[in-house]
Amino acid sequence: MEFDTVIIGAGAAGMMAAAHLDGRTLLVDHAKSAGEKIRISGGGRCNFTNMHTDPKAFICANPHFAKSALARYTQWDFVALVEAHGIAWHEKTLGQLFCDNSAKDIIAMLHKLMQARDVDLRLQSSVSGIRATDAGYSFTLATPEKTHKVTTRRMVIATGGKSIPKMGATGFAYDIAQQFGIPVTATRPALVPFTFADGRFAEISGVAVPARMHADGPVFEEALLFTHRGLSGPAVLQASSYWVEGAPVFLDILPSGMYEALRQQRQIGGRKNMTTELARHLPARLVEHLAGVFDLTGNLADWSDKRLDALMQGLQHWELLPNGTEGYRTAEVTLGGIDTDALNSRSMACKAQPDLYFIGEAMDVTGWLGGYNFQWAWSSAMAAAADI
Ligand code: FDA
Repeated sequence: MEFDTVIIGAGAAGMMAAAHLDGRTLLVDHAKSAGEKIRISGGGRCNFTNMHTDPKAFICANPHFAKSALARYTQWDFVALVEAHGIAWHEKTLGQLFCDNSAKDIIAMLHKLMQARDVDLRLQSSVSGIRATDAGYSFTLATPEKTHKVTTRRMVIATGGKSIPKMGATGFAYDIAQQFGIPVTATRPALVPFTFADGRFAEISGVAVPARMHADGPVFEEALLFTHRGLSGPAVLQASSYWVEGAPVFLDILPSGMYEALRQQRQIGGRKNMTTELARHLPARLVEHLAGVFDLTGNLADWSDKRLDALMQGLQHWELLPNGTEGYRTAEVTLGGIDTDALNSRSMACKAQPDLYFIGEAMDVTGWLGGYNFQWAWSSAMAAAADI
């Protein structure tokens, strides 16, 4: 079998690239269906992009790398594509755009575009023995029916990262990079819940509060959820992408207006227990837990300014030391990947091997939570497609 382009990985990036390529294209995936992560994303409604997409919302060893692709295929380009296919959407929060109906609409759109280009999609298929030849690449393709010898002029690796192995995630892209001498930066789970060895939040698991959280990066102001194993929720997942093992994380759960309200309450009497007063502003179960962390004894009326200020400071700068994360089992993405120094930022082609491309999550480009990672899949795929 002869192709102009072979794409390995029929996820968001691979399908998007295949949907925009001329010539004979083969798209291979070992999964039963294409776009499985799209299907389950955004609670089944796919948070397909973010209105505020900006290179600053992406983590990469080279902070300039993503600029070109994001500028050339923007969030609005993808919104226009979605609208052209009659897919209704809405903003949920913080610029996050979701399908009104179902994530399956995005998958169907990509299939339709691929069909229009006659893309040869092979599912439940695997690729082995990739070799560079004078004319491009050759390899063995094992489909459920038979084994083929395939030759192609170009290869696009779109096999994503290592997150959620149960869904078919593999380190295939990194293995190919290694085979062709392309550097890979250290990889680790990101957008992932934190765990604590002592299960200290087990008794308040299920409690959620608005919070501000950071590790070694920006402060994220979103919801935080206490779990049996530790901390989860959007603020936590965001901070996890900037966390280094062994380092603390910083939590601010002070509700806005609480400090002023407590001072006022103290002035007009405040003969109630401090925990009762706090429970007017924070979930009662959380206050119970906090009583084991901070000294909350006594009536509000008896609290000095100094003591009250110290508690407010404590709630604003709550330092915690996670013992780890839930790992690739639940991580939404993989941080790190194909070193962007080895890639051309306009085309995603390898500088040393211009007919080999890496796109999507396999690369060392990781977006924040909120539609940024799909936008990177679309933008990087379009950069490669434009070059091909
Ligand atoms: P992706 O992982 O989508 O595709 C890779 C494909 O390669 C898969 O189909 C896989 O089967 C295939 N493959 C892997 N190894 C192979 C091999 N050896 N041989 C053949 N095929 C192979 N992002 C976002 O922006 N908004 C959101 O709402 C969400 N929600 C979300 C929920 C959950 C639960 C997860 C796990 C992730 C998200 N994400 C997200 C992240 C987003 O799904 C992710 O960044 C993109 O899917 C990455 O697209 P790629 O095409 O690069 O990889």
